[in-house]
Amino acid sequence: MLTKSLYLLLAVSAMVSPTLGQSPAQKVADLRLAASMVDRVKLLQDNEFVFDFLHPISGESDGGGGHTVSASVGNFPALVGTGMAMTIGFLGPCGYNTPHTHPRATEFNFAVNGTLQTGFLAENGARFVFNEVPPGSAAIFPKGVIHFEMNTECEDVLFVAAFNDEDPGVDQIAQRFFGLPPKFVAAALGDIGIEQIAGLESKIPNNVALGTEECLKRCGLTNSGQPTSQRQPRVAANALPSGYSGPSAAAAPSGTPTHYATPATSPAAVAVSATASPTSLSGQLSLNDESGKTNPVIIALIVIVGVLLAGYAFIIVGWCLRRRNEKKSRSGGNKYFKPGADFAPQAASFHSDKGYGGPHSTPYDPPTQ
Ligand SMILES: *[C@@H]1O[C@H](CO)[C@@H](O)[C@H](O)[C@H]1NC(C)=O
Repeated sequence: MLTKSLYLLLAVSAMVSPTLGQSPAQKVADLRLAASMVDRVKLLQDNEFVFDFLHPISGESDGGGGHTVSASVGNFPALVGTGMAMTIGFLGPCGYNTPHTHPRATEFNFAVNGTLQTGFLAENGARFVFNEVPPGSAAIFPKGVIHFEMNTECEDVLFVAAFNDEDPGVDQIAQRFFGLPPKFVAAALGDIGIEQIAGLESKIPNNVALGTEECLKRCGLTNSGQPTSQRQPRVAANALPSGYSGPSAAAAPSGTPTHYATPATSPAAVAVSATASPTSLSGQLSLNDESGKTNPVIIALIVIVGVLLAGYAFIIVGWCLRRRNEKKSRSGGNKYFKPGADFAPQAASFHSDKGYGGPHSTPYDPPTQ
């Protein structure tokens, strides 16, 4: 019942403003249908051309070694038609952006204020390419290559990665590979036991993970367990055989001790991001967030829609009253009332009322002689 009336309110608010209450997916669809850039600009507010990487509502990947924030067409509709996307890496000490590919884009990764160790495997037959990338330099990872970046510093560092596709996509190697059907993983690894596969998979940390042992030692850090919720979900076709229940999905990062403190965020940003976990980004609003509190966005929408509805009611009542008064005054002796005069254009009644029948004049007309 509450949800139904909520959808009604959302529908009304959507009629009032074509952009309010529109899901990012719908907006992207509208932008893709637009005939030109001029039309696309009309579909977006000014501030929708700016993405806030410090307070993202979605696009985050969080792990024990830091986090990344991605702006791609899925969460930043202004990218439609640009062929570009961007990810910012907030790497903690020894933070490690684990091996992955971008199926649709080349990446140009700029080390802002710390040295990164990076490497990639382009394809079968190509050698392994490795680099230490100092601050101020950028590494290029051609489309589709398996690559990684690790912060070698014992301090937080930033990287800025640009992509030449608005939907670059990302495929984490370990998380995906070990999510293949166990017998195929086992065979690909020279027929190791299912037990070992389940055991290995349970350890695959979320991205951004903690880096190499050498770095952790140098920085005086220990790996005391990282969240592992980014593993490939099991469905019937890739299920572990019965008898191997497999490790249960590890808890979300919250409350997990990590060595990396995420940058301070404003309480408002925390409230907003609490409503959208990276794994449930369907562009839908839910009434309650994970902690059971009412979603502040919904409250704001209800207030806005309430005010709008009250305004409409006020206008309609005013209109009815005026109409009743007009009818009264007409029946009260206006002999010259003609049916249809209600529909006469405003200007016509203006001219006849004022007896002003001369040629139209605007402030821009030259004075008549
Ligand atoms: C790099 O920049 C980030 C963001 O300003 C900052 O938090 C971090 O401490 C910097 N790291 C170094 C090594 O300067």
